[in-house]
Amino acid sequence: MGYGADVFHEAETIINLRRLRAEDELEKRRELLYKDCPRAKAIEYELAGIFVQVGKRVISGIEVRKNLDELKNKSLALQEELKGILSERKLPENYLEEWYKCEECKDTGFIDGYMCKCLKNTMKQLAYDRLNQASPLKLCSFDSFKCEYYSDTPLKGTGKVPRKNMESVLRFCVKYADNFSEESRSLLFQGGPGLGKTHLSLAIAGTVIEKGYGVIYVSSPDIFTRLENERFRGGFEEKGSTDALLCECDLLILDDMGTEYLSKFTSSELYNILNSRLLRQKPTIISTNLTLDEMQQMYGTRIVSRIIGMLDRVEFIGTDIRQVRRINKN
Ligand SMILES: Nc1ncnc2c1ncn2[C@@H]1O[C@H](COP(=O)(O)OP(=O)(O)OP(=O)(O)O)[C@@H](O)[C@H]1O
Ligand SMILES: [Mg+2]
Ligand SMILES: [Zn+2]
Repeated sequence: MGYGADVFHEAETIINLRRLRAEDELEKRRELLYKDCPRAKAIEYELAGIFVQVGKRVISGIEVRKNLDELKNKSLALQEELKGILSERKLPENYLEEWYKCEECKDTGFIDGYMCKCLKNTMKQLAYDRLNQASPLKLCSFDSFKCEYYSDTPLKGTGKVPRKNMESVLRFCVKYADNFSEESRSLLFQGGPGLGKTHLSLAIAGTVIEKGYGVIYVSSPDIFTRLENERFRGGFEEKGSTDALLCECDLLILDDMGTEYLSKFTSSELYNILNSRLLRQKPTIISTNLTLDEMQQMYGTRIVSRIIGMLDRVEFIGTDIRQVRRINKN
């Protein structure tokens, strides 16, 4: 899931097709006008001719100012005539220009070598569509989340009651999703397997996407393999790379943290992504089976105390729901 080179290429193709369509539609409009008014065609040809002549003069250095002025005046007069032809027909002034969907980059996707907003948004949209297709988002809603699956007997030791705990976790998550904004806090979902961490992350994702935000849901092993492949296979330029996008989305959900294969690369990448999001106060939800101690051992103090320490902890306790449901079925 997430944004990868494939999303980038698909988005680029969409933008390129947009540009070709704009050019194609201009040709069609032009033909229509020429049919209706052959004079317009003559004017456009004449204008193009003047353009070439001016160019030639400047290049050959025959700087005959008078001639150039003449050409300029002629071209202005022709342009006025053309404007008149368009307005007589109640056609817009830009009828003979490409109607780009994005005027800023003229549907090329890039401005001075940097990705334009329209390309980024298209990638976002594609990534979200994929998220919806690839994850059981529909099944994992707040409505399908049941607190009865959690025991109402206090746990030995802590005395905490799993069901009570989950009722408050569920309330918290619903509120978090409903009130989501760019200023929302980051969360750490922590607890054993099968306790609903992924389920509630996806439920939050669903609500937040519906509110129009860009959400990326990725599982940790998945994304680091992808990043590593991109990095070492090369060929995918930095500006479009997945990690830039992981840093940019409105909400990043990093699931199953701690199950990725840990290398120098993954831990520095993890640090960069989380640090850059936290610095810009972009909300992130991390879920993990690891305790803080285990995280400390795995990632070191830099990540755990400086980064994970800034997330609000949400504790998941109880018995693996996968088992509970199996037992209930029998
Ligand atoms: N409270 C719940 N009500 C209904 N279904 C639930 C609930 N909690 C979990 N499930 C379902 O049980 C399965 C396991 O839950 P989930 O994947 O969310 O657990 P997890 O905490 O992410 O586990 P892991 O740490 O192994 O990733 C999923 O199919 C999920 O939809
Ligand atoms: Mg999970
Ligand atoms: Zn653009």
